[in-house]
Amino acid sequence: MAKVVNKFSFSFAGDFVSSKAAERIAGLASLKTKKYIFMPLTHTKDLFAKALKGKYALGAFNVNNMELIQAIVEACEEEKAPLILQISKGARQYANPVYLKKLIEAAVSVTNVPIAVHLDHGDTFELCKQCIDEGFTSVMIDASHEPFEKNAEITRKVVEYAHRFNCSVESELGHLVGAQFDEGEEGGAHSTSGHYTNPDESVKFVKETGCDSLAVAIGNSHGAYKFKGEQHLDLERLKLIKKALMDAGMGDYPLVLHGASSVPQYLVAEINKYGGKMPDAQGVPEADIEVARRTGCTKVNIDTDLRMAMTAGIRKVFSENPKEFDPRKYLGPARTAVKDLVRHKVKNVLCCAGHAFD
Ligand code: G3H
Ligand code: 13P
Ligand code: ZN
Repeated sequence: MAKVVNKFSFSFAGDFVSSKAAERIAGLASLKTKKYIFMPLTHTKDLFAKALKGKYALGAFNVNNMELIQAIVEACEEEKAPLILQISKGARQYANPVYLKKLIEAAVSVTNVPIAVHLDHGDTFELCKQCIDEGFTSVMIDASHEPFEKNAEITRKVVEYAHRFNCSVESELGHLVGAQFDEGEEGGAHSTSGHYTNPDESVKFVKETGCDSLAVAIGNSHGAYKFKGEQHLDLERLKLIKKALMDAGMGDYPLVLHGASSVPQYLVAEINKYGGKMPDAQGVPEADIEVARRTGCTKVNIDTDLRMAMTAGIRKVFSENPKEFDPRKYLGPARTAVKDLVRHKVKNVLCCAGHAFD
């Protein structure tokens, strides 16, 4: 893989693009599609304000390759849904940031729905800075493994830098350990220094850091095996966090739900049917996401479900047609499976369909 170029700007980031460049890109886009006009990257701040007002949530979809980007953007385009494409450190290492940037530029040029680009789980100031310098409109600094004061200090440093470039910052308080820590166990839900996000600490953290949104730990966790027994998030705690921020004068403050994949059982069944092994995979019930959305979880992070849809699509082709070796013949159906999943999310779970031009 070629060496990553460190300094570049998204040519379509709203604040950086000149009107001349916009016209040129618009010309190229309309040549290709005949119907799209140029649209720069959107800021999550704008998207959040509208989502909070409209009581819908934004999907923040993790992307690593062309097929995922195409599937997500096409589904949102067809459903007129605003969206966030998020890129993890691992995605940058896998695909090369330059490739991801160019793919997203392509996506932005062929759609007119608002798209924000966000760094997912940035683990250092340096990584966040790099993404801000590249033109991301939003970054996450995740120092949640650090003690409160250290987490706040690192977050504050990122906020100070990001805000100079009109970039929003998400931070995280609490640990995404899953619902097994809900009761009784050491460091569990009811301790201020425990795993779950404490409402009063949320207020202190947001005040001290100036972060623009806060990722909460309420029994959510990453991956396909979220719950050992009953599936549940601590939605009461979520309401208390929201209320504490509201009571402290922070208004309808945007909260973020990580680990929000539902691990649809039809995908588990497909994967297992076609040779996979995902026994006991379980996600967040859609009904919980619904409550989270109504409570003001404005950004809902989804990665695992996309991975599963893609895997199910590929496995089906390989299983039914072992002679197939044209990547388009398995990546194509996999892309369609991701698109169907995203369409369902934005229409029926996040309820952001139809809100692209609010
Ligand atoms: O929260 C983690 C996301 O699912 C990204 O995962 O670090 O494997 O790219 P990754
Ligand atoms: P899932 O593993 O539930 O998809 O969560 C993704 C996520 O939180 C990315 O930051
Ligand atoms: Zn996450």
